[in-house]
Amino acid sequence: MCGIVGYIGKRDAYPIILKGLKRLEYRGYDSAGIALFDGKDIQLCKTKGKVATLEEKAKNEMSLVGNLGIGHTRWATHGVPNDVNSHPHYSNSGDLVIIHNGIIENYDTLKKELINRGYTFKSDTDTEVLVNLIEDIQKNQKLKLGKAVQIALNQVVGAYAIALFDRKKPDEIVVAKLGSPLAIGIGEDEFFVASDASPFIEFTNNAIYLEDEEMAIIRLGRDVKIRKIKDDKVVAPYIQELQMNLEQIEKGGYDHFMLKEIYEQPSVIKDTYRGRLLPDEGIVRLGGLENHIEKFLNAERIIIVACGTSWHAGLVAEYIIEDFTRIPVEVEYASEFRYRNPIISSKDIIIAISQSGETADTLAAIKLAKQHGAFVYGICNVVGSTISRETHSGTYTHAGPEIGVASTKAFTTQITVLTMLALRLAKAKGTISHSDFVRYLHELALIPTHVEEALKTESKIKEIAAVFKDARNFLYLGRGYNFPVALEGALKLKEISYIHAEGYPAAEMKHGPIALIDESMPVVVVAIKSEHYEKVVSNIQEIKARKGKIIAVVSEGDKVVSEMADYVMEVPHTPEPLTPLLTTIPLQLLSYHIAVMLGRNVDQPRNLAKSVTVE
Ligand code: M6R
Repeated sequence: MCGIVGYIGKRDAYPIILKGLKRLEYRGYDSAGIALFDGKDIQLCKTKGKVATLEEKAKNEMSLVGNLGIGHTRWATHGVPNDVNSHPHYSNSGDLVIIHNGIIENYDTLKKELINRGYTFKSDTDTEVLVNLIEDIQKNQKLKLGKAVQIALNQVVGAYAIALFDRKKPDEIVVAKLGSPLAIGIGEDEFFVASDASPFIEFTNNAIYLEDEEMAIIRLGRDVKIRKIKDDKVVAPYIQELQMNLEQIEKGGYDHFMLKEIYEQPSVIKDTYRGRLLPDEGIVRLGGLENHIEKFLNAERIIIVACGTSWHAGLVAEYIIEDFTRIPVEVEYASEFRYRNPIISSKDIIIAISQSGETADTLAAIKLAKQHGAFVYGICNVVGSTISRETHSGTYTHAGPEIGVASTKAFTTQITVLTMLALRLAKAKGTISHSDFVRYLHELALIPTHVEEALKTESKIKEIAAVFKDARNFLYLGRGYNFPVALEGALKLKEISYIHAEGYPAAEMKHGPIALIDESMPVVVVAIKSEHYEKVVSNIQEIKARKGKIIAVVSEGDKVVSEMADYVMEVPHTPEPLTPLLTTIPLQLLSYHIAVMLGRNVDQPRNLAKSVTVE
């Protein structure tokens, strides 16, 4: 849950690392640090706070020269965020310096052993334990750094992506990975190391993604040497050519990444279905699904595991898959599933949904399902991510990098994939008529245009945001396909504005939440034309009778709800199963504008990180 960057080559390392850290701040931003080798010695600067604070401090405290360096942006696990606990960490001799993303679970035992051997510790971190363990092994056994790292990591329980170097050998960076991502960028006579490719994409498109339990020795003038940490087997490096570009990872003129990502939805939904959805030919196909259709058709049930927004996409999928295919679907929080001794059989199919592909709980749920012989299908955004590699097959959402901590385009592209999956299975199973099937393909192809329309209501939504920005609580209601949208709307508001919000199925309101309603309670109701329209209208009347303020998401041209509601946000018409792709748009914009008006840090809300790689 931290970001790591490293560089070795002919350029100045400092600007590359600093810019790289800024791009990786989505992974954690409570402290940051850099270590550079200036030709003679290591220069190190670290601080509590953001990379911008580090930049200011580094100007005064260190020489910014050197062609070798490592940097870190932290999301605290062991030890409070402060200067001392920030990375990089030195070993006791000051020869080794390390950055680490992950958790060493047995650090306490290892620390006690090192203290018995005379080591001292400045920080409360597990990382300082690791670097001293490596030093201890290196010194006692007179080993090269790479070998010492390998032996140390075999004693470690936990997760890590690490990068370290030795001041006595400044032509080499050693990296290793287990459970946290690590990419190596391969340039001409230069190498980059990072948690994802964004810090080096403007320098090279060639990257190696280390697999779990692999380490690499990156030495100038040599090829990258990769080994398995456990059995020492040499691994041939697999160099991938990356498709992402710099523009994709920068703000592109928007005030925040979140807003940029909201506005990218028409184009990324298209990217998600491009080549997969061919309405005129009456075809939908997902590469990862075609060879496994029979497994899906014979499955006793599908279990969807995910967290947060991805879990909400899973709930939408439950409606659409059951509706279209009649295959039973269960949706589980990955964090509960993994610990509740669930019943899983080889006849179950697990669909794991994750934007980052790194969420620890989702990953653990996948591992558990695999142990029980279930077939696991992944829906991930980040190409080459751990979950995409751990699953038997799957589909990428192709949403491009999502930097804002609040997930937006990941949600709509996940639903796009899940809708295509449901349609493909329904066709294969014969649970949808050909005419309905073709109609849905055409309707899905129209979604990007409808999203563009929905985005045009932004100025009106901004006015609504201004009215309600000071509310202390919000209630979000929806029914059927739009119940998960209510949950998602509430989550968006909570995480970026810090306003308390609850999502409920509209009909459940009278079983409790209605007690909360008075004139100070804004209630956001998804009230589009659907099977449940009349029922939602009744729910709105119940709220009105108690003086609640209604902000309704309605279908274009709606009259009935529009007359009853205090404010409306219109979305175009589409068949009900596709409505979550549209109704979610105004809710994203509403939470965005409220958060901006409250002066919140929209892209990096407090206490959160983009990918949650710890339990
Ligand atoms: O990367 P993942 O989709 O696995 O992440 C799951 C959640 O951590 C994530 O959706 C989180 O809830 C977002 N901050 C919501 O906006």
